[in-house]
Amino acid sequence: MPKLQIEELFPAPKQPLHLDIGFAHGEFILESAKQNPEWNYLGLEVRTPLVEKIEKLIEEQALHNCKVVAASSLMNLDIIPDNSLDRVTTFFCDPWFKPRHHKRRIINAKFLSEIPAKLKHGATILFQTDVENLYLDTLEYINENGHYTIILNENGVHHPNPLGIQSYFEAQCLKNQWPIYRMEFRVAIA
Ligand SMILES: C[S@@+](CC[C@H](N)C(=O)[O-])C[C@H]1O[C@@H](n2cnc3c(N)ncnc32)[C@H](O)[C@@H]1O
Repeated sequence: MPKLQIEELFPAPKQPLHLDIGFAHGEFILESAKQNPEWNYLGLEVRTPLVEKIEKLIEEQALHNCKVVAASSLMNLDIIPDNSLDRVTTFFCDPWFKPRHHKRRIINAKFLSEIPAKLKHGATILFQTDVENLYLDTLEYINENGHYTIILNENGVHHPNPLGIQSYFEAQCLKNQWPIYRMEFRVAIA
């Protein structure tokens, strides 16, 4: 896939850029773009019908600061320009329980080694899940990588994420009082 050109995607390309991986039905990315016109939002989602659905909603709602692409963060991270992202989120991604499937997880050792090239200085990655084992494994991947500082670590909480806009799965957890496991981290400053 060709590399994305930020200048061609957004009318205000100099605005900070937020990447949301696995947006599914788009509740979080659409509401974020609506509430924060001073940010640009880019979504990656592997399921093409969902991308087409969200493209229609973006057009209907004239959300010029939001673009979505049918792509996998595992295979296509190289389409993101280097040094372009101010924030990354990935919420309630598939846990892929079997060890032989761990390589399909959105945050894994490969992602943690590749994403720093795409981040601007100080950019943050916010991850949340309802699966304790996925949270614990992700914590281990981050610690094994050794190049990140964890700035938020919440183990089984019942309150919303610090960005103040909930994804579909996050809202379900909060409504049902199911625990949320959440981590925010960034590349450690040498
Ligand atoms: C369980 S849903 C979570 C949806 C939403 N983030 C939420 O919190 O409500 C996970 C989504 O991630 C997508 N996905 C899984 N792996 C992906 C990857 N490597 N790159 C992009 N999207 C991915 C799936 O297709 C699915 O729509």
